[in-house]
Amino acid sequence: MISIKLATTIGDYTYIAYLYNPGNNKFLIRKKVSLAEITEEGKYRFDYIISNNSQPIGWFALMPWKIGKKATLVLIIDRKNQGKGVATALWPHIIKKAKKKGFTKLFLEVLVDHEVARHVYRKAGFREIATVVKMEKIIAKRGQRDREKTGRLFNLGQKKA
Ligand SMILES: CC(C)(COP(=O)(O)OP(=O)(O)OC[C@H]1O[C@@H](n2cnc3c(N)ncnc32)[C@H](O)[C@@H]1OP(=O)(O)O)[C@@H](O)C(=O)NCCC(=O)NCCS
Repeated sequence: MISIKLATTIGDYTYIAYLYNPGNNKFLIRKKVSLAEITEEGKYRFDYIISNNSQPIGWFALMPWKIGKKATLVLIIDRKNQGKGVATALWPHIIKKAKKKGFTKLFLEVLVDHEVARHVYRKAGFREIATVVKMEKIIAKRGQRDREKTGRLFNLGQKKA
């Protein structure tokens, strides 16, 4: 039986970080995510662990928008449980949690070539409203960024002459 609980423990966040494993998902950023990053993100969203007969099988999160009663939904079903109807069975649970938090509209992003996810979301009643191209530009190397950050902090601590 599927059950949902709010993530609260280090164990919960460790599991979410594990789900981000590139083998598990087809997100835009296919990289491992650390426990520290996941717990930091957890401050700004509602993370839920999905279990089947007390065994964790996935996670979803509701990320509130700054304005309005809207939230972005993210969802990962553990690889070994994908294709077994979990996401399909999950919608009433997600909608219930979202309504309880006061959200009136959910958004999500999915890769154009992620046919399974698009199919699952369409079937759940999501309609496609835009196709975007994400772009990036590295403007500082990691070491440089860190040095600049440290420098800025250091300067803030300096007394003006
Ligand atoms: C996308 C995801 C959430 C779907 O969850 P799931 O529990 O595996 O989905 P379900 O088993 O409920 O449904 C899968 C559906 O896809 C269909 N499907 C399977 N392979 C397919 C394919 N190659 N093309 C289109 N549809 C396909 C199945 O037939 C089923 O549809 P049906 O119920 O109408 O027959 C899950 O696979 C997942 O977490 N993937 C990794 C993370 C991810 O990519 N998340 C989405 C980011 S936006």
